[in-house]
Amino acid sequence: MSLTVRPVTPGDVDRVVEILTGSWGGTQVVMLAWGEVVDASALPGFVAVADGEIAGLITYAERAGAVEIVTIDALVQGAGIGRALLDAVREVARERGMPRLTLITTNDNTRALRFYQRYGFDLVALHRDAVTRARDLKPGIPLLSEDGIPIRHELELELPLDS
Ligand SMILES: CC(C)(COP(=O)(O)OP(=O)(O)OC[C@H]1O[C@@H](n2cnc3c(N)ncnc32)[C@H](O)[C@@H]1OP(=O)(O)O)[C@@H](O)C(=O)NCCC(=O)NCCS
Repeated sequence: MSLTVRPVTPGDVDRVVEILTGSWGGTQVVMLAWGEVVDASALPGFVAVADGEIAGLITYAERAGAVEIVTIDALVQGAGIGRALLDAVREVARERGMPRLTLITTNDNTRALRFYQRYGFDLVALHRDAVTRARDLKPGIPLLSEDGIPIRHELELELPLDS
């Protein structure tokens, strides 16, 4: 598989919306730390292109001196797509002189927790029942994961960057 990563362009918008809707039920993402709902399809990001097809998407936002990953989706798992997408945003953060990259995931997402910690992210906070509260803003958030784990809490992770 040939894998390249490039910035999202305006011409990708239909595919970006399709990927976000397929994974997250829409393009709106609740950023509880900011107390806001964000349209992830309008954020900067990168796509992974595998054998000529878009096979992954990462979006990020810059705020208050930090770069936060908002969404990450590998359409083929375990093929290095997630890692390649993280590498691209880490490079953006480094170029801007950011001290760290941050992200939030949910308590049920054991695959993502494994992936982020193997990459070098460290857990820095637990926001108990943050997802429960986020359902007031986005009622479509499922109650249970595919594994049957109640989706309730947010976990905050950070990756320190070399200056
Ligand atoms: C979490 C997620 C982004 C990880 O992406 P991914 O592309 O599967 O991750 P990678 O392939 O880069 O890494 C996962 C494993 O594949 C391995 N891998 C990397 N390149 C590989 C390759 N070329 N061939 C085979 N395996 C490979 C990695 O080594 C890693 O395994 P390890 O941890 O045992 O070393 C992905 O599972 C996903 O999209 N999940 C659904 C959406 C989601 O939950 N997003 C996170 C929300 S917070």
